[in-house]
Amino acid sequence: MHTTVEAFAESLESLRSRVNQELDALIEHELLNGAGEVAVEAGRVLRAGGKRLRPILFMLAYRLAGGKDEDEAMPLALAFELIHTATLVHDDINDEAEQRRGIPTIHTTSGQAKAVIAGDWLFVQGFGLGGRYSSQIVEIIARCCANIAVSEFHQLDHVLNLATTPEDYFSIVKGKTAGPFAAGCHAAGLIAGLTEEQAHGLARFGMELGIAFQLVDDLLDLRGDERMGKPRGADVHEGKMTLPLIHALTLSHGTHRQRLSELIEAFTDADFDELMALLDRSKSMEYAEILVRTHIERAQAELDVFPDSEAKRLMHQIAQFVIDRHV
Ligand code: IPE
Ligand code: IPE
Ligand code: MG
Ligand code: MG
Ligand code: MG
Repeated sequence: MHTTVEAFAESLESLRSRVNQELDALIEHELLNGAGEVAVEAGRVLRAGGKRLRPILFMLAYRLAGGKDEDEAMPLALAFELIHTATLVHDDINDEAEQRRGIPTIHTTSGQAKAVIAGDWLFVQGFGLGGRYSSQIVEIIARCCANIAVSEFHQLDHVLNLATTPEDYFSIVKGKTAGPFAAGCHAAGLIAGLTEEQAHGLARFGMELGIAFQLVDDLLDLRGDERMGKPRGADVHEGKMTLPLIHALTLSHGTHRQRLSELIEAFTDADFDELMALLDRSKSMEYAEILVRTHIERAQAELDVFPDSEAKRLMHQIAQFVIDRHV
């Protein structure tokens, strides 16, 4: 007899492996069509082992919304994973990141020009799949992708800006990370036949979950975690103003505030302990953790209107996973 926990893990694992098979097939198909090195390089990052959180969630949202034909929703789920991977390839060029998903980034192995093109290739593959749906769905996908770009521009303008506010931070996070989670859940609901109003509940679920997810990503970057597949502190080296830093800068005074700004402005790996001690003084990590819980609770509450089902329980579990990842 399976325990419920084991049965849940199996359901999620079988969705993940279905997504992985589809992605493998897509790359093989492109290689057979003569795509060559660009498909090899893009395929390398694609197959290096992402969590597949977005496609899994969108397939579950489709089921939760009453969708019965999984083949109807799979291209949408894959489209978002391809687009997500495209943004990672481009993000890593801009962030000068050497590792992604535990392997060297494309710009490190093949140079920046090819990495830009490989990212474009992934985007186009994603849009090819997303473009199979109605103009309403295509519009949702296009808008969230455009918003990623808008937010990435804002984030660049806030690099090392010590006056960055929590409002700036949340606006950037909604655009670059939470928006795509919202768009995928929204679109999955519509494809399954929900009304616009019902599907908006799923969009809010995705938005709240996505905010919590980026908060946790930022916390893990500060704490260091081998599951991240990239070195600790990349954000601080980049000058990215994440919520714990914004919070600490607001609450600290005098010499502590002065030292904190100096550390942020010229960060080296030797400064980690001192930075963490300053964040500790203002309880800034705890502050961000409380917000993670708040956003996850809000996400879960959006599911209340849907009848109980395995999909709903799995979506609750994924929300819980987002919290558990950093504790
Ligand atoms: C990384 O996303 C980028 C962020 C939005 C924080 P994931 O943590 O979902 O990356 P993969 O897909 O599992 O590699
Ligand atoms: C998320 O931001 C990336 C995109 C939405 C393009 P990050 O810069 O935090 O992603 P990681 O931390 O490098 O994975
Ligand atoms: Mg990055
Ligand atoms: Mg980035
Ligand atoms: Mg990050």
